[in-house]
Amino acid sequence: MTDGPNYGFDTLQIHAGARPDPATGARQVPIYQTTAYVFRDADHAAALFNLQEVGYIYSRLTNPTVAALQERMATLEGGVGAVCCSSGHAAQIMALFPLMGPGKNIVASTRLYGGTITQFSQTIKRFGWSATFVDFDDLDAVKAAINDDTRAVFCESIANPGGYITDLDAISAISDAAGIPLIVDNTSATPYLCRPIEHGATLVVHSMTKYLTGNGTVTGGVVVDSGRFDWSANDKFPSLSAPEPAYHGLKFHETFGSLAFTFHGIAIGLRDLGMTLNPQAAHYTLMGIETLSLRMQKHVENAMEVAGWLETHDAVEAVTYAGLPSSPYNHRVASICPNGAGGLFTVKLKGGYQSCIKFVDALQIFSHVANLGDTRSLVIHSASTTHRQLTPEQQEAAGAGPSVVRISIGIEDPTDLIADLDQALNASK
Ligand SMILES: Cc1ncc(COP(=O)(O)O)c(C=O)c1O
Repeated sequence: MTDGPNYGFDTLQIHAGARPDPATGARQVPIYQTTAYVFRDADHAAALFNLQEVGYIYSRLTNPTVAALQERMATLEGGVGAVCCSSGHAAQIMALFPLMGPGKNIVASTRLYGGTITQFSQTIKRFGWSATFVDFDDLDAVKAAINDDTRAVFCESIANPGGYITDLDAISAISDAAGIPLIVDNTSATPYLCRPIEHGATLVVHSMTKYLTGNGTVTGGVVVDSGRFDWSANDKFPSLSAPEPAYHGLKFHETFGSLAFTFHGIAIGLRDLGMTLNPQAAHYTLMGIETLSLRMQKHVENAMEVAGWLETHDAVEAVTYAGLPSSPYNHRVASICPNGAGGLFTVKLKGGYQSCIKFVDALQIFSHVANLGDTRSLVIHSASTTHRQLTPEQQEAAGAGPSVVRISIGIEDPTDLIADLDQALNASK
């Protein structure tokens, strides 16, 4: 599409990054199922390898189908560039990789997807990195946790699974004052509900496995760069500001300006870590994003209706949907995610752990799976699955205690969803 600064979200989700195929005129973005690309001549090859010319070399680094998705995601998030990765977890490592080094740490919210807590509390230690987890509602604690070795602040916009909305403006004011980037996982919200860069985020990461693809067919992730961070303001980010030996001393920030992080992500991150998204997965995700706004509106509409109904059920102790007036985070919806609080929440059952197990087993329309953000309604008992590696304290802090079931509301008929939940809740008593 031609650049149009005033195009609305519904237009951009279909057209951004996509243009008729130059070779064939194909209207849909083709799946460029190729590993390599023929160089025009030896000089062309040398210029590509020296990063003097942008183009295609090898699909571990760049691929036209993936590039279309990168452009679309950067556009929808209001960033300057994006790097697609093989999963949401890969995107998190790819976001941290240029910033971190042995002995460096991140300050992360206690309210994160359980797999992220495990990745940050256990696995990144193998790289000599560490994470300090704090309650992001306690702004003084966030400030206090940042030290000279902190290289990023990390949170989710709408946290999975607890219905917690982060005050991104307050958190970005803290990271800005400390001169470090804020990374926001926007998986549960998607750019249709929340645009973290408008609230000061430096980088936005996604598991595209969820709402972006939207139908449970793909594993993918993306890092979107706001292009706003000054990587050369101090010596904290040498990967981006100092000479890079693998490219004859090229300085990414000096050479590529606001696109430094994106170029580094492709030229170093994908080249050497190889967490590449394949073109077929990119194609499915591009298809999914075409209907993102329509699906998110329906997810929100259904979640409002179902969560409101669940609150009144006598087997239910609490529902954590931020869209409900009873939620302590309801006041943040208008400012942080003005199009709605998403389709994900938890329900706490009065009958505790045993009731939760009976409840998930009795459901008919809802599937008991380790996924969210599908057109289908899904449930999971987080404490015995996605959050089972966590301590009881971490489970509670993440909103995933033993009496809690996570619900991802799909876009089916809400009357049918309520009927299914009703029979399963009655069976759980
Ligand atoms: C909020 C959030 N971030 C990241 C991830 C990791 O994504 P992936 O499973 O695509 O690696 C998930 C997965 O459930 C998630 O819910």
